[in-house]
Amino acid sequence: MTRTPLMAGNWKMNLDHLEANHLVQGLAMELADHNHDYSQCEVLVIPPFTDIRTVQTIVDADNLGIKYGAQDVSVHDNGAYTGEISTSMLTKLGCTYVVMGHSERREYHNESDELVGEKARKVLDAGMTPILCCGEALEIRKAGTHVEFVLGQIRAALKGWDAADVAKIVIAYEPIWAIGTGETATADDAQEVCGAIRKALAEDFGAETAEATRVLYGGSAKPGNIKELMAQEDIDGALIGGASLKADSFAEMCRFYA
Ligand code: 13P
Repeated sequence: MTRTPLMAGNWKMNLDHLEANHLVQGLAMELADHNHDYSQCEVLVIPPFTDIRTVQTIVDADNLGIKYGAQDVSVHDNGAYTGEISTSMLTKLGCTYVVMGHSERREYHNESDELVGEKARKVLDAGMTPILCCGEALEIRKAGTHVEFVLGQIRAALKGWDAADVAKIVIAYEPIWAIGTGETATADDAQEVCGAIRKALAEDFGAETAEATRVLYGGSAKPGNIKELMAQEDIDGALIGGASLKADSFAEMCRFYA
């Protein structure tokens, strides 16, 4: 497989900058202690905006292999947009990834597929990698229309995109019913949707693009289930909430390949 696996820790609204300092130092130590091979698994932390400068300082000072990014971004460049953060503010801080379309932002901030697609485009144009999230609620899963729903989200966000750009993004499938609930989708459930995403990418953008695009799973991923998830053909990594807030559990997940 040519796709480099990615373990991405989405801290959500957790940890102040002092706690961030502690976690990144701890994570770096855990990874170094086990001679982490970054070519086998890219390690990414996605802290709140207020922690990014702190994370940058530690990563730069110790020349760590850990990457970092942001949980959201504005589609505007600058100006009268109170509370928003631009792509250039993030690139200036050394961010290399930005998440968009997380179900929590779709739900609490009414973010549409179109806006999510616009954010992804903005992030790519700024030279960073978008992590485009998708995923269905429990009612949709129960109705059995989850694959159709998720593909609809992705197709709406990537409407009009070039294949070469799609190959550069990361897609994260996060079934809402599995987020923070302890209820993990089974590896088969996760593979079903991640496989369908890759198939749809092949149909829309060609086989080469579909082979290149990384697809992550998210939703109660933890040390105990990561190996099985990563053994699935179309799962290239995980977007991890709760288990990424502890250095030892996140580092253990990054070592899934060992
Ligand atoms: P949990 O790993 O806490 O279920 O969160 C998943 C998630 O939403 C990551 O973005």
